[in-house]
Amino acid sequence: MPTDDAQAIDALGWEKRTFPPSAAFKRDALVVDTHLYDDAAEDYHGFWARQSADLLAWSKDWSTICEWELPFAKWFVGGQLNVSYNCLDRHVIAGRGAKVAFHFEGEPGDTRTVTYAQLLDETQRFANVLKGLGVTKGDRVNIYLPMIPEAAIAMLACARIGAAHSVVFGGFSAQSLSDRINDAEAKVLVTADGGWRRGEVFPLKPTADEALISTSTVTGVVVVRRGGNEVAMVEGRDHWYHELMDTAAAECPAEPMDSEQLLFLLYTSGTTGKPKGIMHTSGGYLTHVAFTHKYVFDLHADTDVYWCTADVGWVTGHSYIVYGPLANGATQVMYEGVPNHPGNDRIWEIVEKYGVTIFYTAPTAIRTYMKWGPQEPAKHDLSSLRVLGSVGEPINPEAWMWYQEHIGGGTCPIVDTWWQTETGGIMISPLPGATTTKPGSATFPLPGIGAELVDENGARVDAGGGYLTLTQPWPGMLRGIWGDQERYRETYWSRFPGRYFAGDGAKLDDDGYLWLLGRVDDVMNVSGHRISTTEVESALVSHPSVAEAAVVGATDPTTGQAIIAYVTLRGGLEVDAKVLRDHVAHEIGAIAKPKAIYFTPELPKTRSGKIMRRLLRDVAEGRNLGDTSTLADATVVGELQRRAAEEPSPD
Ligand code: WTA
Repeated sequence: MPTDDAQAIDALGWEKRTFPPSAAFKRDALVVDTHLYDDAAEDYHGFWARQSADLLAWSKDWSTICEWELPFAKWFVGGQLNVSYNCLDRHVIAGRGAKVAFHFEGEPGDTRTVTYAQLLDETQRFANVLKGLGVTKGDRVNIYLPMIPEAAIAMLACARIGAAHSVVFGGFSAQSLSDRINDAEAKVLVTADGGWRRGEVFPLKPTADEALISTSTVTGVVVVRRGGNEVAMVEGRDHWYHELMDTAAAECPAEPMDSEQLLFLLYTSGTTGKPKGIMHTSGGYLTHVAFTHKYVFDLHADTDVYWCTADVGWVTGHSYIVYGPLANGATQVMYEGVPNHPGNDRIWEIVEKYGVTIFYTAPTAIRTYMKWGPQEPAKHDLSSLRVLGSVGEPINPEAWMWYQEHIGGGTCPIVDTWWQTETGGIMISPLPGATTTKPGSATFPLPGIGAELVDENGARVDAGGGYLTLTQPWPGMLRGIWGDQERYRETYWSRFPGRYFAGDGAKLDDDGYLWLLGRVDDVMNVSGHRISTTEVESALVSHPSVAEAAVVGATDPTTGQAIIAYVTLRGGLEVDAKVLRDHVAHEIGAIAKPKAIYFTPELPKTRSGKIMRRLLRDVAEGRNLGDTSTLADATVVGELQRRAAEEPSPD
């Protein structure tokens, strides 16, 4: 039995159901065949160049499509464009100024309709505000805002003048904010007094003030009034957004930027404590996100109402709320708050209200909706929906099926999109009019993308499990880690020579479908068998009493690792741990039976909704927990730790 080989990721519990695109969907779909794949397979440089020319407006043509000196890529070299011009001006110039860019819905129920013309106007004014605060091309601006239109405006204003933004999720602490400001050496911080969350105002400005105590580069702070909470303003440094906007000049021409102009930094956690400032540039990135947004979601910009529920503080918000959709001239919904305020049906109420046609969310959210029950979406008419998307973690087949049935009315194609902060845009996903889907599989690499699995030694794997690698440069790829290109090379390009290593495990089934298995550190090794935490979680969640499950491999003296499961039951239900263990054995095999199951009312998650598996492993192994500042609810951990210590293992 192989022990330390990716080939040994056991291909257990294959999902057999298939869903071809319906004839009704295909009738109006943008892509119903393989022509894009064929085109890209011939010549992927030429393919991306044609997409870029088709989707974007360039001020100056590029001379070289892609310059590749591993691991550094440049795309559309010599070309010039302005990202904010592409997202705003050209739509207005084409006569679409009155088209809605954002239907904004505040958590308290206030609404705001922002047209493309208004978005352009505010962006130009705010670009002038930034200039007035001394921001020039090449500077960095930090953004720490709730989910309000000003977040997009601030980002686009930076892009307009060639400053790079660094957005920090509003749920991050003062420490995290100051770390990111310091690493980026930001000149200006854009924040708000506060925002709405779960019926209350959460203050941002006081946290920003605390962060600014330990920074030295910020000379100006702009504060958007949103929460209405009292805040202190530092004379000479702090300014109200509305006051500066009132006196700002209305016009700020979009200056052409080099294709490789730094567009933004976005910090993401690595295996070490220090977050990495992932660098993204302009021409290639915008090509990638515009292309994927259009074709993965089958966007018909004139009629679709698109809603991505991500926060602008994460890469999904950057690529699929701001840049991709606006480059494509889409109409979107932007929602400020939590999904269960005032009721568990808030999301579905909004879908009905705005007639949302394309809905993009995360598996963790879908499982939460499952937990709340199908009666919540059933309260609303969701028949406007036509495409559903998923991102952020492997979607277990049961959640996929629930999404399809209870949200998609059994007819919407589901696009499970695999990508990362580092990839900039979607890499592996179905095209909804062309791809036959299987619940739980992200299917195939998109046209123009090269992805392969390799084993421990870097040899290609054509069937079964392996490490996911990317084999060729792509336009949206990260250009490095801010201030640490050695770490960039080391983190992504050293494990398998010549390949980008994504850090994810995956398996290929006999039909060539890719099944993402989660981070490689989430793959357990039990008695020499590699078993994905995701597969066991899927099995647990397929039991009718289980709402959500997180599985970790804890060190075990006999078996190497033992499978430990944390399970949240559906409201009001009770079940014996033994029943669930047998259920997993039934679904996958006795090898995958969890050694212990702990029941818990909530799972510890990061503020972006990812289950903190490493932390659960620490709990399972009785280790000290260290920093839990990114936990959505830190008390959950204490509770889990208490139970893990008290309850003997069922074995
Ligand atoms: C995981 C989010 C399975 C994966 C866009 C990746 C997924 C990490 C999927 C990146 C998916 C994202 N199926 N796993 N469809 N999408 N992941 O940087 O482990 O926040 O490496 O980017 O999320 O997370 P990040």
